[in-house]
Amino acid sequence: MIKNKTIVVIGGSSGIGLASAKLLAGKGAQIIIGGRTPEKIEKALRFIGMAATGHAIDMTQDESVANFFSKTEKIDHLVITAAGAELGNFLELDIKKAQSFFESKFWGPYRIVKYSAPLLAQDGSVTFFSGAASRRASPGFACGSAINAAVETLAQTLALELAPIRVNTISPGIVNTPVWDSITQDKQKLFSEMESKLPGKRVGEPSDIAHAVKFVIENQFITGTTLFVDGGYLLTN
Ligand SMILES: NC(=O)c1ccc[n+]([C@@H]2O[C@H](COP(=O)([O-])OP(=O)(O)OC[C@H]3O[C@@H](n4cnc5c(N)ncnc54)[C@H](OP(=O)(O)O)[C@@H]3O)[C@@H](O)[C@H]2O)c1
Repeated sequence: MIKNKTIVVIGGSSGIGLASAKLLAGKGAQIIIGGRTPEKIEKALRFIGMAATGHAIDMTQDESVANFFSKTEKIDHLVITAAGAELGNFLELDIKKAQSFFESKFWGPYRIVKYSAPLLAQDGSVTFFSGAASRRASPGFACGSAINAAVETLAQTLALELAPIRVNTISPGIVNTPVWDSITQDKQKLFSEMESKLPGKRVGEPSDIAHAVKFVIENQFITGTTLFVDGGYLLTN
C-alpha cells in the first residue's frame, strides 16, 4: 500500500518528520522532504537513503511553496510536521512572536495544502500535526493550544471538502526531538519531570510517532480524526 507511493513530508529534515520519512522510505515509498535549511535536507537525505529527494521550502511564503510543488507532478500522501514554536505566558509573549507562531504552524500547513491539493491522488491522504496542548491547557502555551485546536478543526473541514482524499491530524505528546533544544533551557530536567508523571514513565521517541503516520496513511477508513499518540499525557496532572 505504501510501496512506490509518492509521499511528501514537509518537515522531513528533523525530528518526527525525519523518522517518518525514514520509516516510509524503508517500506518502499518515494519520499520527497521539505524544510527551510538546505544543509539539514542534505544530511536528512543521507540518513533516509533509498530514493529520497528533497528541496528547500519556507511554508510561510507563497512563492516558496508554489515553487516547491511546481517540481512535483503527483502526490499520493502529504505529511506536514513542519512548525515553528514559541513558548511564553500570555501577558509576556510579544504579540508579533505570537503571530509568527500562527504564521508558521497554522498558516504554513494551510498554505501547503492549498498549493498541493490539485496534485493529490483521490485515494491519498493529508496528515497534519497538532499537539496535546489543544486538549490540555498549560501555562505558557496559550498560543500553542489555540493553534493546535485550529489545525485539528481545519483538518476536519478539509476531510469533508477534499473528500475522498482523507485528512487527519496526529497529536503527539512530549517527544524527544530537536525542537526542545530551541525552546527550553534544560531539556533533561523537563523530560525527567514528564517521565515521572507519564503512565509509561518515558517521553516519546520520533519513531513512536512515525508508526502512527504510517497507520494513518495506510488505513483507508480513517478520516477527519485526531489521533493522540502521547504516552498518556492527557491523563496526567
Ligand atoms: N516534539 C514534541 O514534543 C512535539 C509535541 C507536540 C507537538 N509536536 C508537533 O509535531 C510536529 C513535529 O515536531 P518536531 O518535534 O519533529 O519538530 P522539529 O524537530 O523542530 O522539526 C521541524 C521541521 O520543520 C521544518 N520547518 C520549520 N519551519 C518551517 C517552515 N517555515 N517551512 C518549512 N519547514 C519548516 C524544520 O526545518 P528547518 O528549520 O530547516 O526549516 C524541521 O525540518 C510539529 O508540528 C510540532 O509542533 C511536537
